Amino acid sequence: MTKDWSPRTKSVHSGTRRSQYGEMSEAIFLTQGFVYDSAEQAEARFIESGPDEFIYARYGNPTVRMFEDRIAAIEGTEDAFATASGMAAVSGALTSMLKAGDHVVSAKALFGSCLYILEEILTRFGVDVTFVDGTDLDAWKAAVRDDTKAVFLESVSNPTLEVIDLKGVAEIAHAKGATVVVDNVFATPAFSKAAELGADVIVYSATKHIDGQGRCLGGVICGTKEFIRKTAEPYLKHTGGSLSPFNAWVMLKGLETMHLRCAAQAESALFIAEALEGHTKLDRTLYPYLDSHPQQAVAKEQMGAGGTVISLDIKGGKDAAFRFLNALDIVLISNNLGDSKSIATHPATTTHQRLSVEQRAELGITDGLIRMSVGLEDKADLLDDIRTALDAV
Ligand SMILES: Cc1ncc(COP(=O)(O)O)c(C=O)c1O
Repeated sequence: MTKDWSPRTKSVHSGTRRSQYGEMSEAIFLTQGFVYDSAEQAEARFIESGPDEFIYARYGNPTVRMFEDRIAAIEGTEDAFATASGMAAVSGALTSMLKAGDHVVSAKALFGSCLYILEEILTRFGVDVTFVDGTDLDAWKAAVRDDTKAVFLESVSNPTLEVIDLKGVAEIAHAKGATVVVDNVFATPAFSKAAELGADVIVYSATKHIDGQGRCLGGVICGTKEFIRKTAEPYLKHTGGSLSPFNAWVMLKGLETMHLRCAAQAESALFIAEALEGHTKLDRTLYPYLDSHPQQAVAKEQMGAGGTVISLDIKGGKDAAFRFLNALDIVLISNNLGDSKSIATHPATTTHQRLSVEQRAELGITDGLIRMSVGLEDKADLLDDIRTALDAV
């Protein structure tokens, strides 16, 4: 019924379930359990639950289900399962489908916790993982084997903003029957075309642009009904990674404004990146929609905008980067992204600290690199703040 609506309309209306009171704003069903009319009804529900029949909040909850239905409608997938955090979504998507002896190919430019799951956890349970340069389709082709069960990538990598050709990787993976799992956080659900480009499973940290206002942790796995309800849900509902109803409600309200926020933030990000490119204090200005970005064409094809994050490589290494951070006034030092408040992060000493010096060097995470999540402040104020801080370097 909702399939002809544009994603913006879906962000406001899809998935809504009204109670008998006809409330305008979605209700928070802050309940762990559900009461049955009879023992027979309880028994029947444990055998098979209908779409509006719930058992226990770890299994499902009406507010959580509204969020799942809404994000699936926006993303263009059949279904979704909401998780307690983005990392619960990444680990749940991968662990629920893999077993000892399976082979996985992954891009090596990953957020530190994603790398930990692939490098430390999956391998500990006997999964064979091959890492490749995600931007090199020949490397994917060489690594994917007949027994490859899944490929994993961040469509835009954290924090160096490499853009991976999703369609190209999906064609290579699908030729061998492998499932394509994409962490699409940096592309954002507002600009995502992941499902139409061939991603089978699309994962988000809802903590980022979906909440977008720095309040709650959350995550979501989007995919086919078969994958979500037969593979992801059984794993997550039994291992305890489900989203709380309160956080689901915050995410639902966040979705209503997500497109407007992301569009404004991406417009400011492009404005700032273009203005800073070539600055004498910078070695590199990274942003997927910049003419100088090596995968600009791929970014323009697979993302409706360049995203809300830019990365700046400051000349002079860690000392210079710290002087820059400490001189910022509006932009806050923190390690989240996608927030309405602009945030600057020094990945080498925070989010990517656990990587070895060699791994960081290989991924282009220099000591001078700053990841800048552009918020909703006035873009001229932000540019002023960044320029003033660069003067202090
Ligand atoms: C690309 C990416 N994936 C996953 C996550 C994890 O999300 P969460 O903090 O909600 O677990 C992050 C968080 O920074 C991220 O940047």
